[in-house]
Amino acid sequence: MTEKTATPGATVRPHRVVDESGRVLLQGVGKQYATRRGPVDAVADVDLEVAPGEFVAVVGASGCGKSTLLRILAGFERHTAGVVEVGGRPVRRPGPERGVVFQDYGLFPWLTVAENVRYGPRQRRMSRTAAKRRAAEYIEIVGLTRFADRYPGELSGGMQQRVAIARVLANDPAVLLMDEPFGALDALTRTSMQHELRRLHVETGATVLLVTHSIEEAVYLADRVVVMAGGASHGVPGHVKEVVPVTLAGERDVNAPDFNAVERQIAALVHAGVGAG
Ligand SMILES: Nc1ncnc2c1ncn2[C@@H]1O[C@H](COP(=O)(O)OP(=O)(O)OP(=O)(O)O)[C@@H](O)[C@H]1O
Ligand SMILES: [Mg+2]
Repeated sequence: MTEKTATPGATVRPHRVVDESGRVLLQGVGKQYATRRGPVDAVADVDLEVAPGEFVAVVGASGCGKSTLLRILAGFERHTAGVVEVGGRPVRRPGPERGVVFQDYGLFPWLTVAENVRYGPRQRRMSRTAAKRRAAEYIEIVGLTRFADRYPGELSGGMQQRVAIARVLANDPAVLLMDEPFGALDALTRTSMQHELRRLHVETGATVLLVTHSIEEAVYLADRVVVMAGGASHGVPGHVKEVVPVTLAGERDVNAPDFNAVERQIAALVHAGVGAG
């Protein structure tokens, strides 16, 4: 078990107010992939409503449809059943109000770290000075100030992933969609990024959906943990098995007995979902 300690970082001004633009709605959502072997039901009957500013983690065994749901919300993939809305509007394509951090989400290799991070704000017509300031702020948060003028190819994988996170945050998204964003990071960096994400979530008011294989990470960060089960290889489409609210008061301590109790409850649900469908 790792201990979560405060890391010094830049203070983030709340860029946005929590409003309806951060609401996420999935209603009876299904996704059928057409494959050479015929149709595959990746997920079915997914109902989930996420309130603006809420932090929801999604866990579940491999193949249960976690990435499929996130890709649908990102607008990279079309659902084949049900209703998918963000901010009260149906999702049809990617949009800047939905920030996406997936593993190996590509940076522009021909731009420096700072240029990558201010790319989004500049696209959205923020002034050069303001975009520079915004980029510097988020580069500091992910601890890469000394590398601002380097190119992605000169950085380690974990550092590139941190740039990807800074780049998305600099866009001030209403909804942050993260698919195992810390999977490639070493344990220490991962702990510090989890801490930063928690702080950023509070300070920016963004709605967060985080897919993770770490139950500890889910319980440390989330207001609610969605446990998924099933998946094509189980003969049952992926679905939401249970939604567990995390009601731990105060600063969460990964070593506290009540924290561990929630972790065990979720682990039991995840493991019951394996094999049983
Ligand atoms: N493009 C595709 N074509 C056909 N089937 C797919 C496609 N993408 C995913 N699937 C199937 O849909 C199911 C869900 O996949 P998905 O990637 O969403 O799972 P996951 O929960 O993210 O798994 P993991 O934890 O391993 O990342 C799997 O059975 C997978 O084989
Ligand atoms: Mg996945």
